[in-house]
Amino acid sequence: MTRTPAQDSANATALVWDWPLRVFHWSLVLAVVGSFATHYAGIEWFDWHRRCGYVAVVLIGFRLAWGFMGPQYSRFASFLRGPRAVIEHLRGRQPYPIAGHNPVGAASVLAFLASLALQAGTGLFANDEIANAGPFYGWVTQETSNRLTALHDLNSSILIGLIVAHLVAIAWYDGRRRLGLVRAFWTGRKAGAQGIRSSRGGLALVIVVALIVALALAIRAAPEASVSFF
Ligand code: HEM
Ligand code: HEM
Repeated sequence: MTRTPAQDSANATALVWDWPLRVFHWSLVLAVVGSFATHYAGIEWFDWHRRCGYVAVVLIGFRLAWGFMGPQYSRFASFLRGPRAVIEHLRGRQPYPIAGHNPVGAASVLAFLASLALQAGTGLFANDEIANAGPFYGWVTQETSNRLTALHDLNSSILIGLIVAHLVAIAWYDGRRRLGLVRAFWTGRKAGAQGIRSSRGGLALVIVVALIVALALAIRAAPEASVSFF
């Protein structure tokens, strides 16, 4: 069957997801799964829980900065829309394909980032009432640390809920609607979309190095404190 030029241009793929965003996502998956696994593996794995947590802190910091400085489809301004757009999308009133995140995906990015920031942020001040604590434990009172630990515990269940919802949604979009979201988030490319010109990889590396240095300096500056519950 002969293809028209219009069909060809609609099927040609273009770079939509910059590589820093894709590296961010798949590294985040490893860091979050690692953080849960190292908690459930037992107390002797705490050093690895801390390390996975630090990776999560840097990644979340990066994503927040990237939402303002990244290429078009990574920017919050390009995909965050109000509740009405989410409802319209759920009612199936939005045309496909959508180059960046659809309104439901956009809402889930926000929910994820809020929950992840809370999780990693509270972890820095948490303690296990036995021996282990986050690096900023010495900056707060035992009572405040306990409150933040309770939040760390509670929010970990919310995070699991978000991850399950995320996987179900992706399976539905890819299985039922055949949108190829996972493939696109791996290769960065989508058909029939207007592509970005650059991934801004150099800028991404500068942001990540700056965040690692800032976290390392903050950890060094934090007062030494051992968990003293009893
Ligand atoms: C996204 C990153 C993280 C995830 C998913 C995560 C997950 C968890 C989970 C599921 C628990 C057990 C909660 C419970 O008792 O039910 C926990 C405990 C803990 N986490 Fe994290 N965590 C993260 C980041 C961090 C960071 C950055 C630190 C600081 C270095 C940290 C320090 C701690 C401490 C001290 C505990 C012990 C608290 C307790 O026993 O209740 N976490 N974490
Ligand atoms: C711990 C598990 C996971 C977490 C915390 C997570 C988190 C996220 C976040 C925050 C985004 C938004 C990306 C952005 O910042 O713009 C996202 C998007 C996405 N994730 Fe995950 N993810 C997880 C697991 C997975 C897995 C296992 C898959 C595939 C099998 C997957 C596939 C995708 C896809 C395809 C998108 C893009 C959706 C779209 O096109 O709008 N995720 N994820």
